[in-house]
Amino acid sequence: MLRCINKNEGARPTLVDQFGRTISYLRVSVTDRCNFNCFYCRPPGRFTTMRHIDILSYEEIYRLIRIAVGLGIGKVRLTGGEPLVRNGLVDFIPRLASIPGLDDISLTTNGAGLKENLQRIHDGGIRRLNISMDTVQRDRFRNITGADRFDEVWEAIDMAAEMNFSPIKINMVVINGVNDDEVVDMAMISTTRPLHIRFIEYMPIGVENGTAQNRTVPASQIKQRLERFGKLVPVEKGKNDGPALRFRFQGAPGEIGFISSMTNHFCESCNRLRLTADGQLRSCLLNNIQEDIKGPLRSGAMDHELAAIFVKSVKNKPSQHLLTDSRVCGGLGRMHMIGG
Ligand code: 5AD
Ligand code: SF4
Repeated sequence: MLRCINKNEGARPTLVDQFGRTISYLRVSVTDRCNFNCFYCRPPGRFTTMRHIDILSYEEIYRLIRIAVGLGIGKVRLTGGEPLVRNGLVDFIPRLASIPGLDDISLTTNGAGLKENLQRIHDGGIRRLNISMDTVQRDRFRNITGADRFDEVWEAIDMAAEMNFSPIKINMVVINGVNDDEVVDMAMISTTRPLHIRFIEYMPIGVENGTAQNRTVPASQIKQRLERFGKLVPVEKGKNDGPALRFRFQGAPGEIGFISSMTNHFCESCNRLRLTADGQLRSCLLNNIQEDIKGPLRSGAMDHELAAIFVKSVKNKPSQHLLTDSRVCGGLGRMHMIGG
């Protein structure tokens, strides 16, 4: 028998997969839409958007999260596409925060439209922010994202720091020949501001035949480049930490993180499950296995029947991703559709 729900480990149940990994973290994509077109994620004109009717309502998302928390999920991240482009997202946060047992809610955003919503996001109970920012150069920002909103995003980052959001993680997807010449400039920001600068290895997903594979810059190489400018002191992992390896320049207020999804994947310690905007449960970002939960939800399934779908999805979580196999790259959905 597979040990998917273990009720004997302390007061709360836990979701455990067949490889012994405890699944406690649900990433919820609330929309596949985005106001940016980052060329590596959402190139213009190359994809279709989900129909409104296919996207889960807040009521449906709330119910599924409540059920997931009952099974042992303790951490939820709202993501997209760009979550802030969905109407009503900010009003949904306090509802989510009221679910007993959900002790950690965070938001991943591209930072556009963030400034005007920061206060309500804070009031709603979110303190942890991930903001995508791939460059410190205004022109390059426009080239990468297709949007002229560089200053606005940096202003939002500054404002969030003043409002004591913490941690504020700045996600930089490092792409060979695109922005890899900026890793030192980015890293140095952590020496003057309390920001966590995170270098993410580019994953060639949704590209044909893995042709973009040589675009990945290994995290180890980035780290070596940074070490020429100062000693990187390891930072101990926290309870709800993700896969980033954390460091700090000696005495710096901010941190440096490396997410080496490609060169040193962290599948063996993966604690994640994903809910897509159109109601599919995906146990691995980089594998097309998914369980439809929207269908049963909309045809009147009871809570325990929906819970069983969560359990099934966890049961089928693959041991590791296959992205290093070039044949699978083109077949995977784009990040904005799955939720990064
Ligand atoms: N490889 C690595 N990271 C990616 N993201 C989107 N597409 C990719 C990719 N192909 C990142 C975004 C954002 C996070 C949600 O996922 O930049 O920071
Ligand atoms: Fe939008 Fe984020 Fe994808 Fe860029 S990386 S297109 S900001 S979802």
